[in-house]
Amino acid sequence: MPPPPPPPPPPPPPPPPPAPCPCHGALPVSAPRPKMAAGGRLPSALPAARVRAAFLRFFQQQHGHRRLPSAPVRPRGDPSLLFVNAGMNQFKPIFLGTAHPRSELSRYRRVVNSQKCVRAGGKHNDLEDVGRDGCHHTFFEMLGNWSFGDYFKEEACSMAWELLTEVYEIPKDRLYVTYFGGDSSLGLSADEECRDVWLQLGVPASRVLPFPLKDNFWEMGDTGPCGPCTEIHYDHVGGGRNAAALVNQGSPDVVEIWNLVFMQYNREVEGNLLPLPQHHVDTGMGLERLVAVLQNKRSNYDTDLFTPILDAIHKGCGAPRYQGLIGDADAGRVNMAYRVVADHVRTLCVCITDGIYPGLSGAELVLRRILRRAVRFCSEVLRAPPGLLASLVPTVVEVLGDAYPELRKSTDQVMNIINENEAAFLSSLERGRRVIERTVQQMQPSTNFPADVAWSLYGNLGFPLDLIDLMLEEKGIRLDSDAFNELVQEDAKRKAEGVQAGQLEGTDMHLDVHSLAQLRNDNVPATDDSPKYSYKLGQHGQYEFSPCQATVLMLYRDQSLQKEVGAGQRCGVILDRTNFYAEQGGQASDQGYLIRLGQQDILFPVESVHLCGGYVVHEVTAVETLRAGDQVQLFVDEARRLGCMTNHTATHLLNFALRHVLGDRTEQRGSHVTAERLRFDFDIQGPVTVEQLQRVEQVVQDVIKRNEAVHMAEVPLALARRVQGLRAMDEAPSPNRSYGGPGYRQRAPARERG
Ligand code: SER
Repeated sequence: MPPPPPPPPPPPPPPPPPAPCPCHGALPVSAPRPKMAAGGRLPSALPAARVRAAFLRFFQQQHGHRRLPSAPVRPRGDPSLLFVNAGMNQFKPIFLGTAHPRSELSRYRRVVNSQKCVRAGGKHNDLEDVGRDGCHHTFFEMLGNWSFGDYFKEEACSMAWELLTEVYEIPKDRLYVTYFGGDSSLGLSADEECRDVWLQLGVPASRVLPFPLKDNFWEMGDTGPCGPCTEIHYDHVGGGRNAAALVNQGSPDVVEIWNLVFMQYNREVEGNLLPLPQHHVDTGMGLERLVAVLQNKRSNYDTDLFTPILDAIHKGCGAPRYQGLIGDADAGRVNMAYRVVADHVRTLCVCITDGIYPGLSGAELVLRRILRRAVRFCSEVLRAPPGLLASLVPTVVEVLGDAYPELRKSTDQVMNIINENEAAFLSSLERGRRVIERTVQQMQPSTNFPADVAWSLYGNLGFPLDLIDLMLEEKGIRLDSDAFNELVQEDAKRKAEGVQAGQLEGTDMHLDVHSLAQLRNDNVPATDDSPKYSYKLGQHGQYEFSPCQATVLMLYRDQSLQKEVGAGQRCGVILDRTNFYAEQGGQASDQGYLIRLGQQDILFPVESVHLCGGYVVHEVTAVETLRAGDQVQLFVDEARRLGCMTNHTATHLLNFALRHVLGDRTEQRGSHVTAERLRFDFDIQGPVTVEQLQRVEQVVQDVIKRNEAVHMAEVPLALARRVQGLRAMDEAPSPNRSYGGPGYRQRAPARERG
């Protein structure tokens, strides 16, 4: 809690003269903020750790929220994301209604957390802005509170106002709130309900401001849950002035600190909005900005989240001290280099700890670029010796380790990975220089540098584009930028087509949010899938599955629930019970067929099986008309299941053997199991030798030879965690990389060891 209020403030100073924007002008962002007038002074500077703790305590203790740890920044089972970029990501299944009704997730009503977020790729990308100003980051912490079908606008706004003005004691006359002003093209009226809530809380009408869709309607992506939002903005200048005209104008003096989203709609694939079955609240406040407010700083880099790292950079390279200079005032870009390096090393620590390593595609490629950008600023601007970047890791861990203890466990590993990648980059810089030299020697006079060579430097050697430009500029040569842009666009198109193809492939039989709500409203029970474990060992070592009979409850086609599907159509079949294993825990789904009772000669092939919000959807081609109410017998392809089961067990043995041979830092990162093969992803520092692989193989063979009994029990997760020798996987289901997630039944993997 903050200390008692300080004595009354001195008389208000005259309003300060208009200042050039520190993001683009020449003012040092470290300049102290002018003393505030009306509304008194801020409480004396709160350390960031106390700011974070006060947020969590407020929602947990005063408003009954359940406190959850941050999810890892590596997204779980969500191919639409490169990095976790908002606190709500881990709750997407709740918003979409796909959380299994028996999972812990589906029981959440009020939740609070402090989420590690990375915005360096995809829809939210701040990478290029980092270093140029005092408020952009690739890694930041998002403080958030959520209501899942519980409280809505009135309580959400009132809690936020109470926290800011009573707990943090931010003077009310520094705050402005915005609400959604409506959108006629979408047929949405202004969110007057929200406006009235703020007025009732005592915010003067002149500070309650409507804004259009682009500012005050938050969307998770091109499709999915969305809704109007209300933002709280803070005026760093104060002095009794009216800064309403600066809200949402990109002024660094008037900044958004908190976004409260009212999830009311779902953006459909066709682009229209449909109301969600339940209303939710999703809020997010950037810790770095809030701390800057509470520590009376204009730049996030002047808060105690960053100053220890900036000090360590100074000690490590002897460059002139950080002064907070921006733009033209920052001669030689030394201050920018400090900000880039401090930001990027935080991102590297968090990502590597959470299993994203600098690499060649997706998030890993982005991380490689971040690392290389940091290395360049270290070596070229700060003139630091190799190793500076890694030497900052312990300081980052010191700053963030209490909030995210996982950082403490991987300090050495993070340092090693940074050092190895730095060395590789420095040598590829050398190779790149030689490529450029050779190409330039072969170029005709007055021609541009060939785009395909630049593209290869960029794509294959991981050269940042600005570095290529710089190296060419030094030689007085220009890049053929038209041809280069064409290559960039072709690449983007290829990637977009790939994503779309993946989405189409994957979403066909996944129940959408409306269908799930309809099933629940119609009291259609979740599928009883316990018969999938109803098998026993036959005399010849094969498994025999018990017969299973079920009733068709509903059919799903063209994203809608139907009672009847005509002959020849592909559809999803929802049964009251099933012995088919849905894709889960990294294991591919069963295949097989259905037979309608009394029509033994007609087989309805089951091609795949998905679990969605507790309903098992069998992807079937209806060779004849299929109707709700039909009775069917289920036949699983037993040989395929057995292949999957043995390969699934083999992943557990392999995991054990790898840790036995390579050490217990070797962590599983994912697996994909089919009847024919298995893939096992794991972390390892450096290459595995042939001799180590042979030992791994031997350990696996030995365990198999022992042919020991496997025991299975279904117990609450908390109890399972206490069983000695059992390792919990902090993972969730995803199409290709998963183990079965927290809160889901833990039974499948154990049973599948049989
Ligand atoms: N999801 C919203 C955001 O990211 C609120 O947290 O801004």
